[in-house]
Amino acid sequence: MQNNRVYILAIESSCDDTSVAVLCNDVVLSNIVASQKIHEQYGGVVPELASRDHEKNLVPVVMEALKVANIKLVEINAIAVTYGPGLMGSLLVGLSFAKSLALALNIPLIAVNHMQAHVLAHFIRNPAEQQAKLDFPFLCLTVSGGHTQLIMVKDYFDFNLIGETTDDAVGEAFDKAAKILGLAYPGGPLIDRFAKNGNANKYSFPKAKVGGYDFSFSGIKTSFLYFIRDQVKVDNDFVEKNIEDICASYQNHLINTLLENTAKAMEEYGIRTLALAGGVSANSCLRSKVNELCESKNWSAKIPPFEYCTDNAAMIGIAAYFKFLKKEFENLSIIPNVNIHI
Ligand code: KG4
Ligand code: ZN
Repeated sequence: MQNNRVYILAIESSCDDTSVAVLCNDVVLSNIVASQKIHEQYGGVVPELASRDHEKNLVPVVMEALKVANIKLVEINAIAVTYGPGLMGSLLVGLSFAKSLALALNIPLIAVNHMQAHVLAHFIRNPAEQQAKLDFPFLCLTVSGGHTQLIMVKDYFDFNLIGETTDDAVGEAFDKAAKILGLAYPGGPLIDRFAKNGNANKYSFPKAKVGGYDFSFSGIKTSFLYFIRDQVKVDNDFVEKNIEDICASYQNHLINTLLENTAKAMEEYGIRTLALAGGVSANSCLRSKVNELCESKNWSAKIPPFEYCTDNAAMIGIAAYFKFLKKEFENLSIIPNVNIHI
């Protein structure tokens, strides 16, 4: 460690993206993501294929991350890795690799919870700033392919889950609707793209009734399936002719559902900062609606840059940096925890 500079090499392999980042303290020097294309043809992630691709990708992605960061492996002070939640095989590949690297270099291993990392990505500092600007407490809406969570964030590792989905995640609601429309996986970005030119009020969908700040997205997916099936019976080309309006209306419905609960929680808890996290926070409509909501209520909106929305190792690196400062290192006997909560 030179002049209080901590260099962390971080590895993320919990699902279908192999990513490696190098950070110097809270600044990202490189963040390489190899997205696995193999799953597109199956309409979803195939766990066994994901593990095999991580095995193939890890060494070249590590080499690329070191090259872009312009740093040598011997200069790294700690290895960070995701240990859950995620797919068992995918986590095992990353964790085993990280352990070997830490052992060979004789440096600490730091294990990171993927869901905490999505939230902590907000603390990645832009080199032009003195400090990442985000004061505690804030509310974080984490929306991804596997999770939909409303989290009260009181400190770096003090999270209080106040609402979550009782069934499907909102990312799944995007991906499954896209599959029904015949679009490739992952469908979220494609729905976003078609929705840009569509009429968001043309079609309406039923609202799920859930208590507290929880969400439910499995019913909407089923009603979407029946809606498309019924329309196609009347006009075989219904989807092709109306794809933009269908995507805009469905997306609008999902986002309104997310924001209704979020706004209620913000008001009832008296919180003034709303942060977004996770893959679905790349959605252009969600980003602009969060900005509009916060402007109208005089709240502050924290929306991550695109590269830190979907799965990436930079977020694992920043979470690990805060653990490094507390010397929270891991024993090499650690195993993945596929269902760990935030
Ligand atoms: O956080 P993430 O990369 O992986 C998980 O931890 O799940 O999130 C992936 C999810 C997928 O469901 C994908 O369709 C969705 O994020 N997603 C989007 C957009 N970009 C990614 N959903 C809607 N609009 C987008 N622009
Ligand atoms: Zn994720």
